[in-house]
Amino acid sequence: MKLRKLSFLVLALALLLAGCRSTAPTAANPPPAVVVGFSQLGSESGWRIGNTASMEQAAKEWGFGLMLDNANQRQEKQIAAIRSFISYQVDVIVFSPIVETGWDNVLREARQAGIPVILTDRMVDVDDDSLYTAYIGADFLAEGRRAGEFLLKKADAMGADHLNIVEITGTENSTPMRDRQAGFAQAIAGDGRFTVLESITGDFLRSKGRECMRTLLDRYGAAGIDVVYSHNDAMTLGALDVLDEAGVVPGKDIVLISVDGEQAAVDELRKGRINCIVECTPHLGGDVMAQVDALTRGKQIPKTIHPEETVFTEFDDLSEIGPRGY
Ligand code: AHR
Repeated sequence: MKLRKLSFLVLALALLLAGCRSTAPTAANPPPAVVVGFSQLGSESGWRIGNTASMEQAAKEWGFGLMLDNANQRQEKQIAAIRSFISYQVDVIVFSPIVETGWDNVLREARQAGIPVILTDRMVDVDDDSLYTAYIGADFLAEGRRAGEFLLKKADAMGADHLNIVEITGTENSTPMRDRQAGFAQAIAGDGRFTVLESITGDFLRSKGRECMRTLLDRYGAAGIDVVYSHNDAMTLGALDVLDEAGVVPGKDIVLISVDGEQAAVDELRKGRINCIVECTPHLGGDVMAQVDALTRGKQIPKTIHPEETVFTEFDDLSEIGPRGY
């Protein structure tokens, strides 16, 4: 126990010095019994910031020590953070992989060290699924399908013969990018009213959402685009800036479909400037820490846990939506 207390103290100080957030234990503030190493992929969106806050809050509520490292969108930083969690022998490693591939080696190292790994928010593509204990996060394929199902309903309501769609996608090779694209394509497949003109990557960033929208307007003109399907609210908000500058009326001249449900986007939905937002909740901390608790008590945990999510559209009573908190 003395050794463990010492290593928590060393880890806390090392992470503090490295710029990671943690609270060093003192005599009045003894080290926690369970220590979680959490590698967050970055701070690219309001969603992500809400997700980090949810993890911190839940760890606090459970009384767990949280070693938090923010990788600022760099996979190599995530791998280095996971290696430092292994060398400090945290009880459980939790991480949100920025992309799906390239994790096999570091996950094998965690297994050799006997440290279970919970993936949260995003999945990995590895040869051996037993390299991680569980995945806790959204069903992105279902989210993509919900976006497509809204479009089917909207096209019916418009009496549209044909609609040209542009898609602004999230980070390439990330789970939400792949599955939101695939789910959407599945939902509209076989319906001759739709053409996807182009899919362009906006990396889940508002600044890139702006750039993408500018490029798409230059390429097709406002009259050539009927629908923008954007993989997150940050990029949608960037696209709105550009549509405003171009004198296009979002939500009327062009249908906007977004994903996440950030407060700023819900406000735009209420103004009629976004037509549909598929919810993706960042509030995953409670589920993650409950499973950490179960694991550290030696219990079996489910391999996959999806939170409940909904969809907010122009066809709904929007007064029902409470404050989003992100
Ligand atoms: O992985 C979840 C996605 O990542 C969210 O939709 C997006 O806003 C974030 O960057």
